[in-house]
Amino acid sequence: MKIYAHRGCSGTHPENTLAAFRAAAELPVYGVELDVHLTKDGRVVVIHDEKINRTTNGKGYVKDMTLEELQSFDAGSWFSEEWAGEIIPTLGEVLDIFQETPHRLNIEIKSDVFPYDTLVDKVANSAAKRGMSDRILISSFNHEDVLKAVRETEIESAILTSQIYVDVYDYARVIGTNRIHVSLPAAFRRMTTDALRKGAIVYVYTVNNEEYAEQLQGIGVHGIFTHFPESMINKFQ
Ligand code: G3P
Ligand code: MG
Repeated sequence: MKIYAHRGCSGTHPENTLAAFRAAAELPVYGVELDVHLTKDGRVVVIHDEKINRTTNGKGYVKDMTLEELQSFDAGSWFSEEWAGEIIPTLGEVLDIFQETPHRLNIEIKSDVFPYDTLVDKVANSAAKRGMSDRILISSFNHEDVLKAVRETEIESAILTSQIYVDVYDYARVIGTNRIHVSLPAAFRRMTTDALRKGAIVYVYTVNNEEYAEQLQGIGVHGIFTHFPESMINKFQ
């Protein structure tokens, strides 16, 4: 079972910061997940929420601020004073860390609240410019953007869902993928075992409990996203 460091090594570092990604780059973990939004001046930045309130000392929407404004805030102190001075990174800054490593990068397109029309293209261009397209996996809860990635880029793409579908594999095939990323509760529903039987590649978020990881490995899940990749790789990868 493949292990992905969720938002970098986010159990021990502030999520989606260069510190969290540098720590992941040092590990023999298969992949790393990160979330992207678009700034007011059209730059791709790595942060989970639409607002910066939870993970920085600032307030407001990413989409309403320029990169310069966003990078003036501290994105480390909320987690621990040890990480004071970390900032919201650009996608390019994160990709550069992994340029020479073997890691796969799952870039989650956070366009399910605000549409960010150009985000898929910008992510694809950023990866192509660095020769990293074949190590990138795009995913999104916005399945219109997954469809766009399937149709308009060479990058492998996955639908994300926490919903239960009657036949999620056939639904994914309509979009043009066999990759399905499901929440932990959805992973234990029949839709997931049915999808696995039909040939889906299934990854599960977010798995921090080793008993659950063992059960998921037992049903044939291909990968998990975890905040604690250090311990999960020793046991499951
Ligand atoms: O990509 C898997 C997972 O990150 C999806 O949910 O909210 O943690 O981005 P979230
Ligand atoms: Mg995510």
